[in-house]
Amino acid sequence: MTFIDGAGTPHDLNAPVGHSLLQVAWDNGLDVEGACEGAMACSTCHVIVDSDWFARLDPPSEDEEDMLDLAPMLKSTSRLGCQIIVTEAMEGLIVSLPGATRNLMLG
Ligand code: FES
Repeated sequence: MTFIDGAGTPHDLNAPVGHSLLQVAWDNGLDVEGACEGAMACSTCHVIVDSDWFARLDPPSEDEEDMLDLAPMLKSTSRLGCQIIVTEAMEGLIVSLPGATRNLMLG
């Protein structure tokens, strides 16, 4: 899969089936906070899914959508990275990190 970081640099990553995108980002040293470690109690694992890919993923739960409403830089293809679990069908998935998330967390 390809993870585009907050500076716009693409990273080609190995995404093991069964791992969340948050885990994949952490394992590869990408700057994703994931403050609640996947408990759906924050929105700091916010990722923006490539629009071609968005419809191919399972839709977000209502709880995920509620959390996303609090995320800065929300886009129509925004998701919580901890709620996307890698499957074999996601070979080639492209997601990007919203560049301003970290700065807003400081405020
Ligand atoms: S890590 Fe907190 S909602 Fe995903």
